[in-house]
Amino acid sequence: MQRRRLGSTGPLLPCVGLGTWRRFDLPPQKVHLARQVVVRALENGVRVFDTAPVYGRSEEVLGRALGGDRSRAFVATKIWSEEREGGRRQFERQLRLFDGHVELLQLHHLIGWRAHAQWLQQERERGRIGLIGATFWRDGAFGGGTAADLEAAMRSGILDVIQIPLNPLERAMEERILPLAQELGLGVLVMRPYAEGDLLTGRGRQGAAHGKPSAESLLRWGLSDQRVHVTLPATLDPTHLMANITAGAAPPMSNAERSAIAAHYD
Ligand SMILES: NC(=O)c1ccc[n+]([C@@H]2O[C@H](COP(=O)([O-])OP(=O)(O)OC[C@H]3O[C@@H](n4cnc5c(N)ncnc54)[C@H](OP(=O)(O)O)[C@@H]3O)[C@@H](O)[C@H]2O)c1
Repeated sequence: MQRRRLGSTGPLLPCVGLGTWRRFDLPPQKVHLARQVVVRALENGVRVFDTAPVYGRSEEVLGRALGGDRSRAFVATKIWSEEREGGRRQFERQLRLFDGHVELLQLHHLIGWRAHAQWLQQERERGRIGLIGATFWRDGAFGGGTAADLEAAMRSGILDVIQIPLNPLERAMEERILPLAQELGLGVLVMRPYAEGDLLTGRGRQGAAHGKPSAESLLRWGLSDQRVHVTLPATLDPTHLMANITAGAAPPMSNAERSAIAAHYD
């Protein structure tokens, strides 16, 4: 089971992907900035691009930025609708944006997940969806599910992948969800590796402002958890992108190194 699920997901080896929330919500005259980052990402081995219909223009901008390079990308997007028909409409649009195929379709915040389970599985069998996932941030965020709902969805057998927060300030998923993902052989994508940038600016915690860990060490911190497959920092800055890619190529941190990083945020 584990091999079937993860073996078909080449890009889901420990690696750095690219998040698009806020950063790709660009007007038409600025799509070239997204294209520049996407080309640089692809040239340097990034394959996983995460977006969603509710990220403003980001989903459409990603489709345009990929352009003729679409086949080199692993597109992870989402649906957000309580009802089957709403989710299907979002998917039909995604098929147009991403050349008839989405590598990973995620239930955003688990909204309406039971209503979508059947048609998502049919589309996976048909091949227009590669993998099915669910994303979770916080209990009930934006009217979505709880951690208990996430556990139920994981145990239901429809999911291949989950996307969860994991950074030194957001560690709740370590307790039950990551062990369960490992037990079930699910892929794990990490959202918010920099807590929206707060971990880098020191806004997150007082103590972090003094000698705060570098972006590189924060990204390695998440990827060094052996249950994690992809981390999804969002950026529109080519220099930051390259720093993230370099961090992803570094060897995993030891437990002692991880503890020292986390101690900055205690
Ligand atoms: N499903 C969900 O519920 C959910 C929720 C949140 C996020 N996500 C996914 O996870 C992705 C990442 O989360 P996020 O966007 O909240 O925040 P994040 O990746 O934790 O942080 C993004 C911030 O970090 C900066 N940054 C990135 N790389 C940097 C570097 N090397 N050095 C310095 N600054 C750097 C970015 O600014 P610059 O542009 O200046 O680099 C941006 O301000 C999202 O884009 C989205 O795809 C999913």
